[in-house]
Amino acid sequence: MGGIFGFYCREPRSVKDVKTGLRRLTYRGYDGSGVAYISGGALRVVKRPSHVDALELPDEAVNVALGHTRYASRGRITLENTHPLLGCRGDVAVVLDGIIEDYEALRDELSARGHRFVSTTDAEVMAHLLEEVGVVEAARRLKGFFSFAALTARGELVAAQRGQPLVVAAAGGCAYISSDIASLYGFAEEAYIVPEGAYVELFPGGFKAYLEDGSPAPLERKRVKELQYADKAGFPHFMLKEIYEVPEALVRTKAALMEKYLRLASMIIHGARNVYVIGNGTSLHAGMVSSYYFADVGVSVNVVSAAEFPHYALNNVGTGTVVIAISQSGETSDVIRSIRAAKRQGAVILGITNSVSSRLAIESNVYLPITAGPEMAVPATKTFTSTLETLLILAYHVGLHTGRRDSSDLKSLDERIEDLARRLKSSVAAHDKTAEALAERLAAGRSIYVAGSGIVYPVALEGALKLKEAALLHAEGVQLGELLHGPLALASRGLLSVFLKPVDAGATGLYERAVKMAKERGVDALTLGPGCDMPAVEADRELAPISYAVSLQLLAYRAGVKLGTPIDTPPGLVKAVTI
Ligand code: F6R
Repeated sequence: MGGIFGFYCREPRSVKDVKTGLRRLTYRGYDGSGVAYISGGALRVVKRPSHVDALELPDEAVNVALGHTRYASRGRITLENTHPLLGCRGDVAVVLDGIIEDYEALRDELSARGHRFVSTTDAEVMAHLLEEVGVVEAARRLKGFFSFAALTARGELVAAQRGQPLVVAAAGGCAYISSDIASLYGFAEEAYIVPEGAYVELFPGGFKAYLEDGSPAPLERKRVKELQYADKAGFPHFMLKEIYEVPEALVRTKAALMEKYLRLASMIIHGARNVYVIGNGTSLHAGMVSSYYFADVGVSVNVVSAAEFPHYALNNVGTGTVVIAISQSGETSDVIRSIRAAKRQGAVILGITNSVSSRLAIESNVYLPITAGPEMAVPATKTFTSTLETLLILAYHVGLHTGRRDSSDLKSLDERIEDLARRLKSSVAAHDKTAEALAERLAAGRSIYVAGSGIVYPVALEGALKLKEAALLHAEGVQLGELLHGPLALASRGLLSVFLKPVDAGATGLYERAVKMAKERGVDALTLGPGCDMPAVEADRELAPISYAVSLQLLAYRAGVKLGTPIDTPPGLVKAVTI
């Protein structure tokens, strides 16, 4: 899988222009990059099993070029497995986004007919198949969710959409194809979304999109919006910069949330027969926190991983169901697949995303933007805190319907968020220093428990996820009370435990006992919360998940620095999991 970007121009342009588009797609993968182009009448491929920044392209002007940035989902990170992949004759180059499911059988079949394979990818099957049949027939032969594009030595540039996003555009004498509309900024002002099941043929300055029977494909036109890209602004890593940006993101999030959409979304939730909250990873953890917010206003929600939702939850989904789908990228395939399945059964989709041009925003019935600003580090930080804030504000609006909240509560929430943002801003540098001082202890932990109770339990899960991603440490979030039911068996094994000071009334005794017992059993116990070993900004129960998250993010970041890990780009991960 990965990102596809290509052009076909009337006048030659630098082949290096493909890199601009590919760089904007590295959130889809950065395990390899390559470009196929026609030069001197021949098909040429330059590729490298590394980030596109390291790809060296010739100083050449060409009419047609097709590039790819890879996420290694099939086959290891090697030059052979890097896209574009060529067929045996070297006159078809293919780039693929997504997964071809039945490629092994087809590979055997093609090998038996004399095709010689050099990679272990599924994409190569497509290159060999295209040597035998046309693009429609090739796509028809394959199962899975994918999009591919192919450039032939004859100068044909074709593509097929079979479930992974593709957009096309034509401007200034060039036609473009890409996995994401946002990558086209500066190339075209308008682009068209290629629907699933459609094919595209690009030619100098234009394109034709058609369906399997040859009829024109219906195309949805979209404006290409200005991209928000960030630089590190003097910070050593994006992750640190983005943690420091949490306070301003909180202020921006609430300013950008529009009352009319909050009212609409809350009305829909209040009128629902049942409510699901779905997401993956960090977004799932935000969803778990929201179950406390919604319960406080009298609404029960089912929080389910978007990876599980289509398999186990659909029985109870129908007219009257609301699915709150959370995804900072808005592109995560599990989320998109889930909302499509839920929609087919009559559910209403409420999207919560940081990307307003994403598939989630486009396909939701209503969406709330979290407006955290561009987040470049793979470990999500400010998008998590802004998502929590969005969910809390939404729950308060639901509370207006259930009678658990009134307009003065809304006003005071606004002030409390403002106040929290101010105090986070003034304390983040000092807390960062403490995290730096504690990093050695974290880095020495063979395994780390992050233990929390009540509303901060999902934040413990999130803290453990951050330690895995940023510091490549094994970490596990556990419920405080569950420590005694198994996890403490590892106490003597060089274990470190980060105990989150409870904010829910009633858990204080449990917390004190658990810390004491853990220490007695040889666990290196580190406390986190206001006035603890790792301080967190004092916050009320509803806002504590935000405050605690920042302290955990700083701890994970500093442990990563101590261990010298690739903090912004953890191995094997991508910003948007589009398979
Ligand atoms: C964690 C992280 C991942 C994502 C997950 C969902 O730092 O980045 O766990 O949270 O892949 O991504 P979105 O929110 O884009 O759907």
